[in-house]
Amino acid sequence: MPENYFGESVAARYDESEGEMFERAHIDSVVDFLVERAGDGAALELGIGTGRIAIPLAERGIRVHGIDLSEAMVARLRQKPGAEQIGVTIGDFATTTVDERFSIAYLVFNTIMNLKTQAEQVVCFQNVAAHLVPGGCFVIEVVVPDLQQLPYGETFRLFNVSETHVGMDEYDIANQGLVSHHYRGVGGSFERFSIPFRYVWPAELDLMALNAGMTLRERFSGWKREPFTSDSTKHVSVWETF
Ligand SMILES: C[S@@+](CC[C@H](N)C(=O)[O-])C[C@H]1O[C@@H](n2cnc3c(N)ncnc32)[C@H](O)[C@@H]1O
Repeated sequence: MPENYFGESVAARYDESEGEMFERAHIDSVVDFLVERAGDGAALELGIGTGRIAIPLAERGIRVHGIDLSEAMVARLRQKPGAEQIGVTIGDFATTTVDERFSIAYLVFNTIMNLKTQAEQVVCFQNVAAHLVPGGCFVIEVVVPDLQQLPYGETFRLFNVSETHVGMDEYDIANQGLVSHHYRGVGGSFERFSIPFRYVWPAELDLMALNAGMTLRERFSGWKREPFTSDSTKHVSVWETF
């Protein structure tokens, strides 16, 4: 089983996070996008966490099942109104199976990058394809690797500096890896939290999808169908089974 980086201390403050991803308007646009593609079928969320997306999606009448490694994150989900309609399987979403077929599977908030090897990401696509009905789709939201921002020979890039938080990514280009380091001010000193990722290119994801029997149907730079261009910093991609 992969290491769980979303233990009790992360889970305890996850829903208090600030930023666009936690704003109601943003969550509504994610949910609108997923509802449109789910049709009459059920949805599978990989890395369901505390239900940031799953709870409002279930409120819109979509049956949702989730997979997550973290008991602590799922415990927060289970405390929320509406959680009783959502099934959760504890396990690694790259390999865990659920005895049900879905019209949509989704993996948001860069969580594909939590799988730290190409092999695990490839297996994850195969696992998703095996859970989809014919014509079902897989939706991923993930950043475009921002190597253009990294000066030649450098390995660190600051992505946030404030009074209470300093965030920096440490790149390992040869292995397509990065570690995000977060330093948070707590009572006059700093607490460090570091989490490893594997960054992944859009074309690489398309190949993983093809390998799993899915083809690219749509690619946007945001949930409101903003066009994906050479300047896009993230993408929302949809692959469909064939
Ligand atoms: C950034 S959080 C996102 C949670 C939720 N999807 C959201 O959008 O708020 C990532 C979640 O994925 C889970 N996770 C990370 N790697 C996983 C893996 N290999 N298998 C299952 N869950 C995983 C973590 O435990 C955590 O709950």
